[in-house]
Amino acid sequence: MNNHNWSSRDLAVLWHPCTQMKDHEALPPIPIKRGQGVWLEDFEGNRYLDAISSWWVNLFGHGHPYIKAALKDQLETLEHVILAGFTHEPAVRLAERLIGLSPKGLSRCFYADNGSSAVEVALKMSFHFWRNAGKPEKTRFIALSNSYHGETLGALAVGDVALYKKIYEPLLLKPITVESPDCHYRESGETWADYSRRKFAEMERTLAAHATEACAVIVEPLVQCAGGMRMYDPVYLKLLREACDRHGVHLIADEIAVGFGRTGTLFACEQADIRPDFMCLSKGLTGGYLPLSCVLTTEAVYAAFYDEYARLKAFLHSHSYTGNALACRAALATLDLFEKENTLAANRLLADVMAESAAAFEDHPHVAEVRQTGMILAIELVRNKADREPYPWQERRGLRVYRHGLTRGVLLRPLGNVIYFMPPYVIAPDEIRFMADVAGEAIDIATRD
Ligand SMILES: Cc1ncc(COP(=O)(O)O)c(C=O)c1O
Repeated sequence: MNNHNWSSRDLAVLWHPCTQMKDHEALPPIPIKRGQGVWLEDFEGNRYLDAISSWWVNLFGHGHPYIKAALKDQLETLEHVILAGFTHEPAVRLAERLIGLSPKGLSRCFYADNGSSAVEVALKMSFHFWRNAGKPEKTRFIALSNSYHGETLGALAVGDVALYKKIYEPLLLKPITVESPDCHYRESGETWADYSRRKFAEMERTLAAHATEACAVIVEPLVQCAGGMRMYDPVYLKLLREACDRHGVHLIADEIAVGFGRTGTLFACEQADIRPDFMCLSKGLTGGYLPLSCVLTTEAVYAAFYDEYARLKAFLHSHSYTGNALACRAALATLDLFEKENTLAANRLLADVMAESAAAFEDHPHVAEVRQTGMILAIELVRNKADREPYPWQERRGLRVYRHGLTRGVLLRPLGNVIYFMPPYVIAPDEIRFMADVAGEAIDIATRD
């Protein structure tokens, strides 16, 4: 079977995620036969460097022998068991390890099976906590503009990317939206820290005005990923933690995209030295092998649900594949790799190579900004550099980048006008330079007219 056979069979029966299927008339889906390290290979032997870690999930490359062996071993004993009334070794070990690694004070792990579900769990838990604590007036959530927390209705409601959200608005609960500290909009000469601090004033005012009705503030710590890899300084999180405490409002850290080393530390919250009340994890949790998510929370939250059954305080939320044994085992193997390979230290060198490889883009007439936090680097294309006028979204400049990348063997998947690198951590310096060279060609082509 060649590429064409698989893509035509695909188009006869599949409906792909986040896709206008008509686009496939011009560019059929690429069938992937195998993955090895940072490389994906199609049925005709063409290779693609996975510069976006397959939607930010893959950490140690495709086909990693250690994770593969752990999964094979797990298959010999237990693939899955209901997690209500039963438990298993990988679920227990993983919860113990995550609690050990996460900010001190997070001591309970509630499993789910994908990122959006983890966000739903955190929102429901926060709301339900306040009910159990005798504060039924707390029913609302505070969120940042340009944020993204997933596609299920609760998660979509607290997000703010119009492309995904607008059409469903009539179905959604209404969050209180505060302008993002997105440092792309800082004044020239203003530091990220100064801008983030300045933008915090609106959050402070909002918390003061809405503390009585607010359950929680939800944020993507340090990088708003789906919103175009927009970044801000840790000082914002520090101020937010203090203000949430002062006003009696929970803090939900959605580390689904930024967790597991993407920002340079294992969790982004570490850079602000804060402990959220809820920390959502998924994506890299299993190294990109299997769907799994969890919400870590505090003993105080757990205690508010702990009572006689008849008092109806329990958190009666579940998903069938909650805490799947294979997925938990893949996660344990992933955490082993962080330790064995000293990944966070090694990534500092890779992040430097990414910075060097992309530095020259700053001078491109259609690049407004090159920004980076740890292993995430983003390049913002604009029509007019002087006033940072964006390209209209209808022109789909990013799609041109995507198409060129594929012809040269690099999977770049821009977010609108933002090209970014978020590769698996097994990428070699030469592969980073290749990825950046191809991105450079693609930028020239995409901005030519
Ligand atoms: C910050 C953040 N939260 C939540 C989600 C949703 O995760 P999932 O796609 O697994 O539902 C995503 C996915 O991109 C994300 O980036």
